[in-house]
Amino acid sequence: MAKQAGLEGVVVAEITTSFIDGSEGELIYSGYAIEELAENASFEEVLFLLYNSRLPRRSEYEALRSAIAAQAGIPDAVTAMMQSLPKDTPAMAVLRTAVSMLSAFDADAENLSDKERAKAKSLRLTGQMTTICAAWMRIVKGLEPITPRPDLSLAENFLYMMTGADPEATACAALNVYLVLLAEHGMNASTFASRVITATGSDMHSAIVAGISALKGPSHGGANSEAMKMFLEIGTVGNVAPWFEANIKSGKRRIMGIGHRVYKTNDPRAGILRRHAEALAASSGTSQWLDIAVALAETARADDYFIQRNLYPNVDYYSAVLLYSLGLEIDMFTPLFAMSRIAGWSAHVISQMGGRLIRPKADYVGARGLKWQPIDER
Ligand code: ACO
Repeated sequence: MAKQAGLEGVVVAEITTSFIDGSEGELIYSGYAIEELAENASFEEVLFLLYNSRLPRRSEYEALRSAIAAQAGIPDAVTAMMQSLPKDTPAMAVLRTAVSMLSAFDADAENLSDKERAKAKSLRLTGQMTTICAAWMRIVKGLEPITPRPDLSLAENFLYMMTGADPEATACAALNVYLVLLAEHGMNASTFASRVITATGSDMHSAIVAGISALKGPSHGGANSEAMKMFLEIGTVGNVAPWFEANIKSGKRRIMGIGHRVYKTNDPRAGILRRHAEALAASSGTSQWLDIAVALAETARADDYFIQRNLYPNVDYYSAVLLYSLGLEIDMFTPLFAMSRIAGWSAHVISQMGGRLIRPKADYVGARGLKWQPIDER
């Protein structure tokens, strides 16, 4: 076993974008408590905050919002590529491929040194990733993609491109808060992957593709999909107790969306997402999945096993219900995470630019002194 398996506890950078205190359930973006941002901020304001360590003035905010919306369109060739893919291609594979392809159409793709141009490029990519996600949702249903509107915020534009209708306020608020809450989270695996790529002097698109690739793994971005599958499997509130008894008490399985490597108390994002999931349930009149999620969380909170191990719902638990209530297929959950986390990835990329090559060591534990054997004698 490596001395620091998983690099756990190893500090690899000084950052100003976010701070996490897992024992206190505290998350801060550039000085602001996540609760304060979730209550007040648009995703675009958070992007500006992560890039500049301060909130934007009105004119700066409007410039950033319109820069994202105005450049969110994707080349026809990228749309055609997506339309040519098998409909059962995992949405994260589609997103990864489409973002990689976008670099061929970005005149500034190979500029590797100018931080202001890197910011402009990542704003472009942020909008384009939203368009790719919405377009893929329509393509799999055999529908034509819809082009983004320059007058909308990123959350509004996604919902508009998904349905073609003017988005409803509760849905926009829920999606905006989801994007705010998932935007940044310290030196997580996908962020680290983006930084490693950047430190080689490679380009923004490559770094974001690396982030997407790392997020695709079930140990990172996939837990809310698993949580939703679990709620669907449970099916009714009445089945929560027997399901818990058969699957969790028996020690056969874990509750997906509960427990966290860092948070050993409430994940501050979970309660905020729950409130927005409640608002969505109230506006749609459908609370089946929320009711199951709440009942299961309450069952776990009353159970000694969960109490003793400080296991609480994490960000994935209620975000599963929120995204499902917005009409997203489970396969789209991780792409939505990426649509938000590009904020953190790009802020880290910009800060890593020009930095030292990241090159850890490995202890060699293999054989030595072996003698060459001709191929037919092995
Ligand atoms: N359900 C049941 N038991 C659990 C759960 C759970 N969700 N999570 C942890 N435990 C138990 C473990 O079985 C272990 O019990 P033991 O001490 O008797 O062996 C104990 O709690 C500690 O578990 P670890 O896996 O060692 O804790 P760790 O901090 O490494 O795990 C993790 C965190 C991987 C997230 C875990 O809680 C888990 O598997 N949760 C479910 C999956 C999930 O929600 N992942 C998303 C994480 S958030 C994110 O990545 C954005």
